[in-house]
Amino acid sequence: MSSRKNFSAKWTRKDLIGLKGLNSEDLNAIFKRAEKFQKNPASQNLKLKGELAALIFLEASTRTRMSFEVAVNRLGGHSLIFSAQASSLEKGETLLDTVKNLEALGVRFFIIRNGENGVIKSLSEKSPSSFINAGDGTNEHPTQALLDIFTLKKSKGKIKGLKVLIVGDILHSRVARSNILALKELGAAVFLCGPHEFLSDELRDLVAGISNNLNESLIDSDAVLCLRIQRERLKEELNFTARDYFQNFGLTEERVKKYAKPDCVILHPGPLNREVEISSELADGPRSLILRQVHNGVFIRMAVLSLIKESLISRKNHG
Ligand code: CP
Repeated sequence: MSSRKNFSAKWTRKDLIGLKGLNSEDLNAIFKRAEKFQKNPASQNLKLKGELAALIFLEASTRTRMSFEVAVNRLGGHSLIFSAQASSLEKGETLLDTVKNLEALGVRFFIIRNGENGVIKSLSEKSPSSFINAGDGTNEHPTQALLDIFTLKKSKGKIKGLKVLIVGDILHSRVARSNILALKELGAAVFLCGPHEFLSDELRDLVAGISNNLNESLIDSDAVLCLRIQRERLKEELNFTARDYFQNFGLTEERVKKYAKPDCVILHPGPLNREVEISSELADGPRSLILRQVHNGVFIRMAVLSLIKESLISRKNHG
Protein backbone atom coordinates (compact mmCIF):
# COMPACT_ATOMS: atom_id res chain seq x y z
CA MET A 1 0.00 0.00 0.00
CA SER A 2 3.00 2.29 -0.08
CA SER A 3 2.93 2.81 -3.87
CA ARG A 4 2.35 6.35 -5.13
CA LYS A 5 0.23 4.72 -7.83
CA ASN A 6 -2.46 4.03 -5.23
CA PHE A 7 -4.16 7.41 -5.11
CA SER A 8 -6.38 6.64 -2.13
CA ALA A 9 -3.39 5.51 -0.07
CA LYS A 10 -1.67 8.86 -0.55
CA TRP A 11 -4.67 11.18 -1.03
CA THR A 12 -5.14 11.88 2.64
CA ARG A 13 -6.87 15.20 2.03
CA LYS A 14 -10.61 15.32 2.58
CA ASP A 15 -11.04 17.97 -0.14
CA LEU A 16 -10.14 19.04 -3.66
CA ILE A 17 -9.47 22.75 -3.36
CA GLY A 18 -7.04 23.13 -6.27
CA LEU A 19 -4.43 21.45 -8.44
CA LYS A 20 -1.60 23.45 -6.86
CA GLY A 21 0.54 20.97 -4.98
CA LEU A 22 -0.76 17.86 -6.79
CA ASN A 23 2.01 15.88 -8.45
CA SER A 24 1.87 13.88 -11.67
CA GLU A 25 1.09 10.66 -9.81
CA ASP A 26 -1.86 12.26 -8.02
CA LEU A 27 -3.16 13.61 -11.35
CA ASN A 28 -2.64 10.31 -13.18
CA ALA A 29 -4.43 8.42 -10.42
CA ILE A 30 -7.51 10.60 -10.98
CA PHE A 31 -7.29 9.98 -14.74
CA LYS A 32 -6.90 6.25 -14.16
CA ARG A 33 -10.00 6.14 -11.98
CA ALA A 34 -11.96 8.26 -14.49
CA GLU A 35 -10.90 5.90 -17.26
CA LYS A 36 -12.14 2.96 -15.21
CA PHE A 37 -15.54 4.59 -14.73
CA GLN A 38 -15.72 5.41 -18.42
CA LYS A 39 -14.80 1.94 -19.62
CA ASN A 40 -16.85 -0.01 -17.13
CA PRO A 41 -19.98 1.57 -15.68
CA ALA A 42 -20.33 -1.47 -13.39
CA SER A 43 -17.16 -0.34 -11.60
CA GLN A 44 -19.14 2.56 -10.13
CA ASN A 45 -19.81 0.49 -7.01
CA LEU A 46 -22.14 3.07 -5.47
CA LYS A 47 -19.23 4.66 -3.60
CA LEU A 48 -21.44 7.48 -2.30
CA LYS A 49 -24.39 5.30 -1.25
CA GLY A 50 -26.23 7.04 1.58
CA GLU A 51 -24.21 10.26 1.23
CA LEU A 52 -25.71 13.72 0.84
CA ALA A 53 -23.83 16.19 -1.37
CA ALA A 54 -24.85 19.86 -1.42
CA LEU A 55 -24.26 21.72 -4.68
CA ILE A 56 -23.85 25.36 -3.65
CA PHE A 57 -23.37 27.46 -6.76
CA LEU A 58 -23.19 31.18 -6.00
CA GLU A 59 -22.31 31.93 -9.62
CA ALA A 60 -24.09 30.74 -12.76
CA SER A 61 -23.29 27.30 -14.15
CA THR A 62 -24.68 24.78 -16.61
CA ARG A 63 -21.98 22.15 -17.22
CA THR A 64 -20.23 21.95 -13.85
CA ARG A 65 -23.38 21.85 -11.73
CA MET A 66 -25.22 19.33 -13.92
CA SER A 67 -22.10 17.21 -14.31
CA PHE A 68 -21.52 17.02 -10.55
CA GLU A 69 -25.18 16.17 -10.05
CA VAL A 70 -24.92 13.30 -12.55
CA ALA A 71 -21.67 12.13 -10.92
CA VAL A 72 -23.11 12.11 -7.38
CA ASN A 73 -26.22 10.25 -8.55
CA ARG A 74 -24.23 7.68 -10.55
CA LEU A 75 -22.20 6.95 -7.42
CA GLY A 76 -25.41 6.27 -5.48
CA GLY A 77 -25.41 9.51 -3.48
CA HIS A 78 -28.09 12.19 -3.25
CA SER A 79 -27.44 15.68 -4.52
CA LEU A 80 -29.11 18.65 -2.89
CA ILE A 81 -29.26 21.67 -5.16
CA PHE A 82 -28.89 24.78 -3.04
CA SER A 83 -30.61 27.76 -4.59
CA ALA A 84 -28.85 30.86 -3.26
CA GLN A 85 -31.60 33.28 -4.20
CA ALA A 86 -34.22 31.22 -2.38
CA SER A 87 -31.99 30.61 0.65
CA SER A 88 -31.37 32.36 3.93
CA LEU A 89 -28.14 33.80 2.53
CA GLU A 90 -30.59 36.44 1.30
CA LYS A 91 -31.46 37.21 4.93
CA GLY A 92 -27.84 37.71 5.94
CA GLU A 93 -26.87 34.19 7.02
CA THR A 94 -23.18 33.53 6.38
CA LEU A 95 -21.93 30.78 4.07
CA LEU A 96 -20.20 29.11 7.04
CA ASP A 97 -23.46 29.07 9.01
CA THR A 98 -25.20 27.68 5.91
CA VAL A 99 -22.61 24.87 5.76
CA LYS A 100 -23.02 24.13 9.48
CA ASN A 101 -26.81 23.93 9.11
CA LEU A 102 -26.55 21.62 6.09
CA GLU A 103 -24.10 19.46 8.06
CA ALA A 104 -26.75 19.23 10.79
CA LEU A 105 -29.03 17.78 8.09
CA GLY A 106 -26.42 15.13 7.29
CA VAL A 107 -24.57 16.70 4.34
CA ARG A 108 -20.90 15.60 4.25
CA PHE A 109 -19.91 16.71 0.72
CA PHE A 110 -19.98 20.35 -0.34
CA ILE A 111 -19.45 21.17 -4.01
CA ILE A 112 -19.11 24.94 -4.15
CA ARG A 113 -18.75 27.66 -6.77
CA ASN A 114 -18.07 31.07 -5.39
CA GLY A 115 -16.99 34.42 -6.86
CA GLU A 116 -14.51 35.31 -4.14
CA ASN A 117 -11.04 33.72 -4.14
CA GLY A 118 -10.19 31.54 -1.14
CA VAL A 119 -13.65 31.14 0.40
CA ILE A 120 -13.90 27.39 -0.30
CA LYS A 121 -10.49 26.73 1.26
CA SER A 122 -11.45 28.79 4.29
CA LEU A 123 -14.70 26.81 4.74
CA SER A 124 -12.84 23.52 4.45
CA GLU A 125 -10.46 24.57 7.23
CA LYS A 126 -13.39 25.21 9.57
CA SER A 127 -15.35 22.03 8.88
CA PRO A 128 -14.81 18.27 9.02
CA SER A 129 -16.82 17.79 5.79
CA SER A 130 -15.36 17.40 2.29
CA PHE A 131 -15.20 20.43 0.00
CA ILE A 132 -14.77 20.35 -3.75
CA ASN A 133 -13.96 23.52 -5.62
CA ALA A 134 -16.34 23.94 -8.56
CA GLY A 135 -14.95 27.38 -9.42
CA ASP A 136 -13.23 29.71 -6.98
CA GLY A 137 -13.22 33.33 -8.14
CA THR A 138 -10.27 33.85 -10.49
CA ASN A 139 -8.19 31.31 -8.60
CA GLU A 140 -8.81 27.67 -9.66
CA HIS A 141 -11.40 25.39 -11.27
CA PRO A 142 -9.65 22.05 -10.68
CA THR A 143 -12.20 19.59 -12.06
CA GLN A 144 -12.49 21.61 -15.30
CA ALA A 145 -8.73 21.39 -15.86
CA LEU A 146 -8.74 17.69 -14.97
CA LEU A 147 -11.44 16.99 -17.55
CA ASP A 148 -9.68 19.18 -20.14
CA ILE A 149 -6.41 17.30 -19.69
CA PHE A 150 -8.12 13.89 -19.51
CA THR A 151 -9.83 14.65 -22.83
CA LEU A 152 -6.61 15.91 -24.40
CA LYS A 153 -4.70 12.86 -23.19
CA LYS A 154 -7.30 10.54 -24.67
CA SER A 155 -7.07 12.39 -27.97
CA LYS A 156 -3.27 12.61 -28.20
CA GLY A 157 -2.25 9.56 -26.16
CA LYS A 158 0.05 11.70 -23.99
CA ILE A 159 0.52 15.12 -22.42
CA LYS A 160 4.30 15.21 -22.03
CA GLY A 161 5.96 17.13 -24.84
CA LEU A 162 2.77 18.68 -26.23
CA LYS A 163 2.66 22.37 -27.05
CA VAL A 164 -0.59 23.66 -25.55
CA LEU A 165 -1.65 27.22 -26.33
CA ILE A 166 -4.20 28.97 -24.09
CA VAL A 167 -5.88 31.88 -25.85
CA GLY A 168 -8.15 34.59 -24.48
CA ASP A 169 -9.02 36.16 -21.16
CA ILE A 170 -6.36 34.38 -19.14
CA LEU A 171 -6.11 37.00 -16.40
CA HIS A 172 -9.64 36.33 -15.10
CA SER A 173 -9.67 32.60 -15.83
CA ARG A 174 -9.62 30.04 -13.03
CA VAL A 175 -9.71 27.41 -15.80
CA ALA A 176 -6.42 28.72 -17.23
CA ARG A 177 -4.73 28.77 -13.83
CA SER A 178 -5.64 25.16 -13.02
CA ASN A 179 -4.69 24.01 -16.52
CA ILE A 180 -1.31 25.77 -16.39
CA LEU A 181 -0.45 24.11 -13.07
CA ALA A 182 -1.43 20.58 -14.15
CA LEU A 183 -0.20 20.72 -17.75
CA LYS A 184 3.22 21.87 -16.58
CA GLU A 185 3.32 19.15 -13.93
CA LEU A 186 2.58 16.59 -16.65
CA GLY A 187 5.34 17.87 -18.93
CA ALA A 188 3.47 19.96 -21.53
CA ALA A 189 4.88 23.26 -22.79
CA VAL A 190 2.22 25.87 -22.08
CA PHE A 191 2.02 29.11 -24.05
CA LEU A 192 -0.40 32.00 -23.53
CA CYS A 193 -1.85 34.46 -26.00
CA GLY A 194 -4.27 37.35 -25.59
CA PRO A 195 -4.52 41.12 -25.57
CA HIS A 196 -2.34 42.75 -22.91
CA GLU A 197 -5.49 43.50 -20.86
CA PHE A 198 -5.87 39.74 -20.31
CA LEU A 199 -2.26 38.91 -19.44
CA SER A 200 0.00 39.77 -16.50
CA ASP A 201 3.64 39.57 -15.44
CA GLU A 202 2.70 37.02 -12.82
CA LEU A 203 1.45 34.73 -15.64
CA ARG A 204 4.64 35.30 -17.63
CA ASP A 205 6.63 33.57 -14.90
CA LEU A 206 4.43 30.46 -15.00
CA VAL A 207 4.65 29.46 -18.67
CA ALA A 208 7.00 28.74 -21.60
CA GLY A 209 5.91 31.75 -23.63
CA ILE A 210 3.44 34.61 -23.74
CA SER A 211 2.41 36.75 -26.71
CA ASN A 212 -0.15 39.13 -28.17
CA ASN A 213 0.23 37.64 -31.65
CA LEU A 214 -2.16 34.75 -32.24
CA ASN A 215 -0.83 33.63 -35.61
CA GLU A 216 2.73 33.35 -34.27
CA SER A 217 1.54 31.65 -31.08
CA LEU A 218 -0.34 29.01 -33.02
CA ILE A 219 2.78 27.77 -34.81
CA ASP A 220 3.51 24.12 -33.87
CA SER A 221 0.61 23.95 -31.40
CA ASP A 222 -0.74 20.46 -30.69
CA ALA A 223 -3.77 21.81 -28.85
CA VAL A 224 -5.45 25.14 -28.24
CA LEU A 225 -7.55 25.87 -25.18
CA CYS A 226 -9.85 28.76 -26.07
CA LEU A 227 -11.33 30.96 -23.33
CA ARG A 228 -14.24 33.38 -23.39
CA ILE A 229 -13.99 36.98 -22.21
CA GLN A 230 -15.21 36.97 -18.60
CA ARG A 231 -17.19 40.18 -18.80
CA GLU A 232 -18.66 39.59 -15.34
CA ARG A 233 -15.17 40.06 -13.83
CA LEU A 234 -14.07 43.15 -15.78
CA LYS A 235 -13.58 46.27 -13.70
CA GLU A 236 -13.41 48.60 -16.70
CA GLU A 237 -14.95 48.72 -20.16
CA LEU A 238 -12.77 47.10 -22.81
CA ASN A 239 -11.30 49.42 -25.40
CA PHE A 240 -12.03 46.98 -28.23
CA THR A 241 -15.24 45.61 -29.66
CA ALA A 242 -16.22 41.95 -29.96
CA ARG A 243 -15.62 42.31 -33.69
CA ASP A 244 -12.08 43.65 -33.14
CA TYR A 245 -11.44 40.84 -30.71
CA PHE A 246 -12.55 38.16 -33.16
CA GLN A 247 -10.35 39.73 -35.82
CA ASN A 248 -7.23 39.60 -33.64
CA PHE A 249 -7.80 36.74 -31.21
CA GLY A 250 -10.71 34.74 -32.60
CA LEU A 251 -9.93 31.12 -33.39
CA THR A 252 -11.05 30.00 -36.83
CA GLU A 253 -10.48 26.83 -38.84
CA GLU A 254 -8.59 28.88 -41.42
CA ARG A 255 -6.20 30.26 -38.82
CA VAL A 256 -5.59 26.95 -37.05
CA LYS A 257 -5.08 25.12 -40.35
CA LYS A 258 -2.61 27.73 -41.56
CA TYR A 259 -0.42 28.02 -38.45
CA ALA A 260 -0.89 25.11 -36.02
CA LYS A 261 0.09 21.45 -36.45
CA PRO A 262 -2.17 19.64 -38.94
CA ASP A 263 -3.71 17.50 -36.18
CA CYS A 264 -4.12 20.36 -33.71
CA VAL A 265 -7.21 19.93 -31.52
CA ILE A 266 -9.41 22.60 -29.95
CA LEU A 267 -10.71 22.70 -26.40
CA HIS A 268 -13.06 25.18 -24.73
CA PRO A 269 -14.46 24.92 -21.20
CA GLY A 270 -17.72 26.57 -22.25
CA PRO A 271 -19.90 28.51 -22.37
CA LEU A 272 -18.99 29.55 -25.94
CA ASN A 273 -19.43 33.02 -27.31
CA ARG A 274 -19.57 32.09 -30.97
CA GLU A 275 -17.89 34.45 -33.42
CA VAL A 276 -16.27 36.30 -30.49
CA GLU A 277 -13.51 33.94 -29.31
CA ILE A 278 -14.23 31.01 -31.64
CA SER A 279 -15.95 30.48 -34.99
CA SER A 280 -18.87 28.07 -35.23
CA GLU A 281 -17.05 26.26 -38.02
CA LEU A 282 -14.17 25.44 -35.67
CA ALA A 283 -16.30 24.80 -32.55
CA ASP A 284 -18.52 22.32 -34.40
CA GLY A 285 -15.81 20.89 -36.67
CA PRO A 286 -13.68 17.74 -36.50
CA ARG A 287 -10.85 19.32 -34.45
CA SER A 288 -13.21 20.27 -31.66
CA LEU A 289 -13.13 18.24 -28.43
CA ILE A 290 -15.63 20.55 -26.76
CA LEU A 291 -18.54 18.16 -26.26
CA ARG A 292 -16.15 15.31 -25.42
CA GLN A 293 -14.86 17.52 -22.60
CA VAL A 294 -18.39 17.82 -21.23
CA HIS A 295 -18.98 14.07 -21.58
CA ASN A 296 -15.71 13.23 -19.81
CA GLY A 297 -16.42 15.70 -17.01
CA VAL A 298 -18.81 13.26 -15.37
CA PHE A 299 -16.12 10.54 -15.12
CA ILE A 300 -13.57 12.98 -13.73
CA ARG A 301 -16.03 14.20 -11.09
CA MET A 302 -16.98 10.63 -10.21
CA ALA A 303 -13.27 9.85 -9.85
CA VAL A 304 -12.65 12.81 -7.53
CA LEU A 305 -15.71 12.07 -5.38
CA SER A 306 -14.98 8.37 -5.07
CA LEU A 307 -11.29 8.87 -4.25
CA ILE A 308 -12.15 11.43 -1.58
CA LYS A 309 -14.72 9.04 -0.10
CA GLU A 310 -12.10 6.25 -0.01
CA SER A 311 -9.63 8.54 1.70
CA LEU A 312 -12.27 9.45 4.32
CA ILE A 313 -12.82 5.75 5.02
CA SER A 314 -9.07 5.20 5.22
CA ARG A 315 -8.66 8.18 7.60
CA LYS A 316 -11.47 6.83 9.80
CA ASN A 317 -9.98 3.31 9.88
CA HIS A 318 -6.55 4.62 10.78
CA GLY A 319 -7.83 6.95 13.49
N1 CP B 1 -16.89 25.23 -17.80
C1 CP B 1 -17.77 25.63 -16.88
O1 CP B 1 -17.43 25.84 -15.71
O2 CP B 1 -19.06 25.76 -17.36
P1 CP B 1 -20.28 26.23 -16.48
O3 CP B 1 -20.03 27.65 -16.05
O4 CP B 1 -21.49 26.10 -17.36
O5 CP B 1 -20.35 25.33 -15.27
